[in-house]
Amino acid sequence: MPFHCQFRPPSGAVEEPQVSDMLLFSGRANEPLGRAVAAALGIAPGRCLIENFPDGEVRVQVEEDVQGRDIYLLQPTCPPVAARLLELLLIADGCRKAGARRLTGIVPYYGYARQDRRSRSGEPLAARLLADLLCTRLDRLVLTDLHNPAIEGFFAVAVEQLSAVPLLAEGLRPGLSAAHILVAPDQGAVKLAQGYADRLGLDIAYVHKERQSGTRVAIRRLIGEVAGRKPVIVDDMISTGGTVASTIEMLLAKGCRPEVILVASHALLVGQAAERLAGLPVRRLITTDSLPQPLSRPFSVEVLSLAPLLAETVTRLHRGAP
Ligand code: R5P
Repeated sequence: MPFHCQFRPPSGAVEEPQVSDMLLFSGRANEPLGRAVAAALGIAPGRCLIENFPDGEVRVQVEEDVQGRDIYLLQPTCPPVAARLLELLLIADGCRKAGARRLTGIVPYYGYARQDRRSRSGEPLAARLLADLLCTRLDRLVLTDLHNPAIEGFFAVAVEQLSAVPLLAEGLRPGLSAAHILVAPDQGAVKLAQGYADRLGLDIAYVHKERQSGTRVAIRRLIGEVAGRKPVIVDDMISTGGTVASTIEMLLAKGCRPEVILVASHALLVGQAAERLAGLPVRRLITTDSLPQPLSRPFSVEVLSLAPLLAETVTRLHRGAP
């Protein structure tokens, strides 16, 4: 009588997690990135209905069997921040209630990160509040180029911090010469600029910025020799464009060449920011797809995808590898 030999792992041995145990859902904040990460993982994005009730409330229906599975939820908390945050929490809640084994939030842009300290009594600590809310439903977070890496300490769950600097530095490299100089547009960006300098071997200048309101900043001083150089301004994010616009004015006043490159992990470009920058000698903007980018801008924008980095991270986390 024939017999079949079937391999079984010895009892007690840990079985390698399979990609089939994993599901990736995307909220509505950045569906193209969700699809790109799923494609890089070789899986289809998880099916999840997300719509608005007539009164504006969000209705979520997770349409996959999540019982016992390792779930990844991709959603940057970009504008409208409150709506995107709530949507993420609702999807997480739907998965949690349906028996998901582990929930990881992939938040490539983390909104409210700039409000990470209280400068006056009566102010909230918004970055901490968001972390607390996310920790009510998620077991782990994957975050990219946080405004301040120390925000990780606000989370009561494991956090995987990623950086887009290696990706952006390679996008920036072609066409660079010794005439280029990296510029950190505030003290917070100096460490970031150092990361680019280490990869690209460029000098760094930095400015001393004072924020006067949500849209206005004052540049007090510039440290570094920029006359005759081509500036490459690097920052974690560009929102209204006020910071880079004031920095460019200062650089021009100090004699730098009117050929500016901007590099930012997160290009929000809210309101009239794009028009504001288009009126300045900006040659290129290099950014990522951490949040959705429109197809056209009034100046040259190169969008480098985070999908390969995120997919590699998900694969590593799913396998439990360090
Ligand atoms: C602030 O500290 C950040 O690093 C950016 O410099 C800032 O958020 C940019 O904002 P805006 O474009 O509105 O000046």
